[in-house]
Amino acid sequence: LQCMKAPQRDGNPDRQGWEKLPNEVLNCDQCSLAKLRRHVVFGAGNRRARWMLVGEAPGAQEDKEGLPFVGRAGQLLNAMLAALGLKREEVYIANVLKCRPPNNRDPRAEEVAQCEPFLVRQIELINPSIIIGLGRHAVHSLLKTDLALGKLRGTKHDYHGIPLIATYHPAYLLRSPQEKRKAWDDLRLAKSIVEAT
Ligand code: URA
Repeated sequence: LQCMKAPQRDGNPDRQGWEKLPNEVLNCDQCSLAKLRRHVVFGAGNRRARWMLVGEAPGAQEDKEGLPFVGRAGQLLNAMLAALGLKREEVYIANVLKCRPPNNRDPRAEEVAQCEPFLVRQIELINPSIIIGLGRHAVHSLLKTDLALGKLRGTKHDYHGIPLIATYHPAYLLRSPQEKRKAWDDLRLAKSIVEAT
């Protein structure tokens, strides 16, 4: 992120960057997932958002619609955002991988290596006040660590000058609802950081 611009509260309205990036991503065929996809899921939301949420990869419904977090995990994510007083349209949501892995298998290292530069550019363009890493794949890619998510959540990390909070993936919370309390604590911590900015 060497070329990252100085932080601006309003996000970065870099129009040229936004003109190029979506087309590059939508036309990408750099890994084998390209042949399997129905839609590229670039990311969606407010390009001037203070909150940026980063997931793992599109699932079946996302691949069908071309939008992030529109399946069951997305419904839980919407509820979590609503509890924070945030509408979907106010935040920006993207994934590490822009194409769906077959049967939702874990992203492969070479896929992450190919695709992550797109996410890095999205983060530069949005320049959010906070990044929420949803689940271990997103957090491991962003923070270049392989510590367990349980060790990474609950504290503020730094992503090239932007505060980053790690929390559980909503799909995991659907399977393990007893962890929702911790995710809520993480999101409240994030909110306190944004409010202090
Ligand atoms: N899970 C993710 O990580 N991202 C999505 O967009 C949907 C489900």
